[in-house]
Amino acid sequence: MNYGFIGAGNMATAMIKGLIYAGIDSKNIYVSSPHSAAKLAANLHIQAADSETITKKCDIVIIAFLPNQLRTLGNSLNLDGKIVISVLAQVTIADLDEVFPTAFNVRSLPNINSAIAGSGPAFVLKFIDALTQAGINNGLDGESAAAIAASTVAGTTETLQKSNSDAVTLMNNVASPGGSTRAGLDNFEQNDFDTIVNSAINATVNHKHT
Ligand SMILES: NC(=O)c1ccc[n+]([C@@H]2O[C@H](COP(=O)([O-])OP(=O)(O)OC[C@H]3O[C@@H](n4cnc5c(N)ncnc54)[C@H](OP(=O)(O)O)[C@@H]3O)[C@@H](O)[C@H]2O)c1
Repeated sequence: MNYGFIGAGNMATAMIKGLIYAGIDSKNIYVSSPHSAAKLAANLHIQAADSETITKKCDIVIIAFLPNQLRTLGNSLNLDGKIVISVLAQVTIADLDEVFPTAFNVRSLPNINSAIAGSGPAFVLKFIDALTQAGINNGLDGESAAAIAASTVAGTTETLQKSNSDAVTLMNNVASPGGSTRAGLDNFEQNDFDTIVNSAINATVNHKHT
């Protein structure tokens, strides 16, 4: 069975890696897009092809371009009798049936976890940068501040992964009542740190690809 991806961005990449991880032979995976497909295919040892080849050769076609391209791009694809899996946010099964009336259309729900995992490194890097800036503001030189900030996050992550405790328990172990770390954590609370993080995640999840 051949799997074809139209679109080679974040979502297609995550799904293709998932298929390979699940044991699908990479020679059975095809990808098409104007710019990124060739590089992605070379990196993951899959097949780059034009969309016409994909619609001919593949039994399952995953559409992973942007939602606003559904009609313009979709109308150029002959997906008669194919299983079409859409990952397009806010595109309904009725939309798919209208554009691909003779295909077997499947709408997959946008995966909030993969939104979070994909963007998470940028958020952690943002925190490392904020720690670095705070170090500089308190008299450290830039190089030392950056090294300390990165090591602090790396070391803390390693400790958390090796321990049987959760993050809050470890955090409370580090912050003695009335101590300097507790004063810093209280300041996070006063400034609604959790709300800021939650709001950033919501902005990522709800971002519309227009
Ligand atoms: N990222 C997420 O976490 C997430 C979660 C849920 C749902 N989704 C949905 O998944 C879809 C893709 O999102 P994404 O984050 O992967 O976006 P993305 O990284 O911007 O990727 C969009 C892809 O569409 C390709 N494309 C543009 N024009 C094309 C054409 N004419 N033919 C074939 N491919 C074309 C682009 O190709 P080039 O790179 O070659 O220009 C790019 O690879 C969206 O509809 C989005 O709503 C994404």
